[in-house]
Amino acid sequence: MIDLRSDTVTRPTPEMLKAMTEAEVGDDVFAEDPTANAFEQKMAKMFGMEAGLFVPSGTMSNQLCINVLTSPGDEIIIDKLGHVFNYESGAAAHLSSVQIHPLNGVNGKLTAELASTAIRPKNDWDPHTRVIAVENTTNKGGGAFYTKEELLKLRKLADAHDLYLHLDGARIWNAMTESGIEPEFFGSVADTISICFSKGLGAPVGSMMLASKSHIKQARRMRKMWGGGMRQIGLLAAAADFAVEHHYPLLKKDHERAKRFADAIAKNDAFKIDLASVYTNIVLFDVVNGSAEDTLAFFAENGIGMVPFGPKTIRATFHFQVGDNDLEEVIDIVESTEF
Ligand SMILES: Cc1ncc(COP(=O)(O)O)c(C=O)c1O
Repeated sequence: MIDLRSDTVTRPTPEMLKAMTEAEVGDDVFAEDPTANAFEQKMAKMFGMEAGLFVPSGTMSNQLCINVLTSPGDEIIIDKLGHVFNYESGAAAHLSSVQIHPLNGVNGKLTAELASTAIRPKNDWDPHTRVIAVENTTNKGGGAFYTKEELLKLRKLADAHDLYLHLDGARIWNAMTESGIEPEFFGSVADTISICFSKGLGAPVGSMMLASKSHIKQARRMRKMWGGGMRQIGLLAAAADFAVEHHYPLLKKDHERAKRFADAIAKNDAFKIDLASVYTNIVLFDVVNGSAEDTLAFFAENGIGMVPFGPKTIRATFHFQVGDNDLEEVIDIVESTEF
């Protein structure tokens, strides 16, 4: 199957597996895994943050960030398409006793103007607005990314109201590839960052929370409490490090392929797509006739996997294990088909 369902479906390459087997390891619950320790420091330095914590998933990373930034009864401002709001099983309510205030942004992005409308007065009876959470790139928002100016305005707003800024950077690598923004910039605007190695970068497991030393100390304890304290994780950190070194530079190609695919979709009257909203490796498009499910079944019969993103909407996601030949095959089917 040519698997465009997600950029999480990649398999470790032989070279990545070799790097994993060669990793020096230790017990990370005792903070004795040299590969994990070095990788946490490397990522923290790269993003201009004090410290890092390797965790099993982007969900745990986001939730740890929320946990250390909030107290029960606090509120988080986020776009209504945000992963934290839609796809984390209501964890912020369950694990941190906070509520989410979703806003109607564009392509999953908040603006400072919009976020400012949700900041509440500091009365006893109001939930306390505590965090502005942004996603970069946006998943449900179709891979859109923030400019420096947009993030600086959000930082200024957070400072003016004594709020924290959390950045869900599951696909920060795609954002940096397309925007050219250097990683340290994100550390200068965000209080906590979550980055993932198991999306387009192609590691089998792993995300990292980046924050101040004191927030990481708190999060280390919560990670253990939530069952995320792991032992010889140098194996996984080595895979993640390999992914940063060797697969990060491949993202540019994924974005080019996504655009070529989107062009083919635009040429077939059976589909509707806004080409201007193809930003990175994610392509969202609508079917004109019938349902997304019917069209997905047709693609599946032809050996192509995609996912529904609404009754008429389909998402295709590009990653380095979909090459040019695969793309040509997909385009042939898209172009030669009447629905
Ligand atoms: C934007 C975003 N944040 C967080 C996550 C959560 O990552 P995980 O699946 O590793 O929990 C995802 C997963 O796709 C995501 O797209």
